[in-house]
Amino acid sequence: MAKIGVFYGSTTANTVMVVTTLNSELARAGFEVESHNIAGGDIKSMESYDLLVLATPTWTEGELQEDWKKALHQLGSLDFTGKRVALVGLGDQVNYPDHFVDAIAELAEYVYLGGGQIVGQWPVEGYKFNKSAAVEDGRFVGLVLDQNNERELTAERIRDWAGMLQEEFAGY
Ligand SMILES: Cc1cc2nc3c(=O)[nH]c(=O)nc-3n(C[C@H](O)[C@H](O)[C@H](O)COP(=O)(O)O)c2cc1C
Repeated sequence: MAKIGVFYGSTTANTVMVVTTLNSELARAGFEVESHNIAGGDIKSMESYDLLVLATPTWTEGELQEDWKKALHQLGSLDFTGKRVALVGLGDQVNYPDHFVDAIAELAEYVYLGGGQIVGQWPVEGYKFNKSAAVEDGRFVGLVLDQNNERELTAERIRDWAGMLQEEFAGY
């Protein structure tokens, strides 16, 4: 069974809840899932997975969640060569429409710099925002969830995205 390492940071627990649901969906899709809250400082173990999910909310007008910020120096030294990495971003499109889920763009940069491949890009349709650093070639670089305004859509979005990852992670 292919193994996925899920790494997340969360300040007010929305990402914790989302990751719990995501882990169940990925398990249902046939993956073995190991989940790590990066507040524990466990970044180096990313290197032991070929398949990764990295999840962060955006805070402070476009910035990474605080535990991710503390881990950046380690993240910058990781080798992502040969790894497939999928991103999950939480944000608030009503109150932060000019910085909606910006933080996953920053994680994507580190993955690219480390030689990894990003998978699981997600359509921008269905969201209302002005600007987001997380849009690349007309799609979000990862799954986008808005627990503040569209909580009722989260379960279905996660289910659809887990189905996408089943294909993108196939063969590993
Ligand atoms: C002070 C503050 C700043 C925020 N800044 C942003 C932002 O720039 N962009 C965005 O999309 N969401 C922003 N948010 C919304 C959070 O990303 C959202 O509440 C998220 O679900 C929090 O996840 P967590 O509970 O896992 O920390 C902000 C929220 C607060 C309270």
